[in-house]
Amino acid sequence: TKPITINTLRKMKAEGEKFITVALYDAPMAAMAQKTGVEVLLVGDSLGMTVLGYDSTIPVTMEQMIYHVEAVRRGNNKSLIMGDMPFMTYATPEQAMTNATRIMQAGAHMVKIEGGEWLVDTVKMLGDRGIPVCAHLGLTPQSVNKFGGFRVQGRNDEQAEQIFNDALALDKAGADLLVLECVPVALAKRITDAVSMPVIGIGAGRDTDAQVLVINDILGLTEQPPKFSKNFLVEAEDIPGALRKYAADVKSGIFPSDEHNFG
Ligand code: KIV
Ligand code: NA
Repeated sequence: TKPITINTLRKMKAEGEKFITVALYDAPMAAMAQKTGVEVLLVGDSLGMTVLGYDSTIPVTMEQMIYHVEAVRRGNNKSLIMGDMPFMTYATPEQAMTNATRIMQAGAHMVKIEGGEWLVDTVKMLGDRGIPVCAHLGLTPQSVNKFGGFRVQGRNDEQAEQIFNDALALDKAGADLLVLECVPVALAKRITDAVSMPVIGIGAGRDTDAQVLVINDILGLTEQPPKFSKNFLVEAEDIPGALRKYAADVKSGIFPSDEHNFG
């Protein structure tokens, strides 16, 4: 088993081959994702909502993230594992270094942080010291209180320019991946074409280099599933089948379709 690295993902972007990301939280799911050939596993702080019953990601702690990164790592020795940094654990570059170190030592290969240009110094500092960074723009759930709800971002020109410029700045700073969440299709395409780092979309249309969905949504465990998600278990016999269907539909460009996107 040759592990997936950032080089694998860069090559896939260059060759126009979509890669698959799943946000998941435990060893058996991580093992199934490995069997399906899922390239990237995100141990998302969404676990606060999907597993722990909070109504946002804000209460999630470093200890909870570490516990779940360790579990995912034990179940999978092939995919690239990305660990979310919890709310306010990267408020300064120094805090980011201390806390990212712990997530890497728990078994992640990369950390993910939410925000734009203000994170340029953090991305550089972590990168210089050997910690790859995935940036996250658009609907960044840790800012839900600032947004006034879980709302699509980048709908007006001013917001769209801000997100575009943030993406360019983070790319230039050396970010290795970018998650774009809940932004209009055209903006996601424009960013994906403009940056050198591979772009993973969720609610961002089909033109990004990759897609990510949360395992709970893929398996129909979410009571009010978001518009951009899809329950793949409906068309499958079992959980591995649902993962295979998700992966196949992303690779072939069937998912996401217009019903999942924001115009
Ligand atoms: O926490 C998470 O699962 C995420 C993805 C939805 C991108 O950040
Ligand atoms: Na997250």
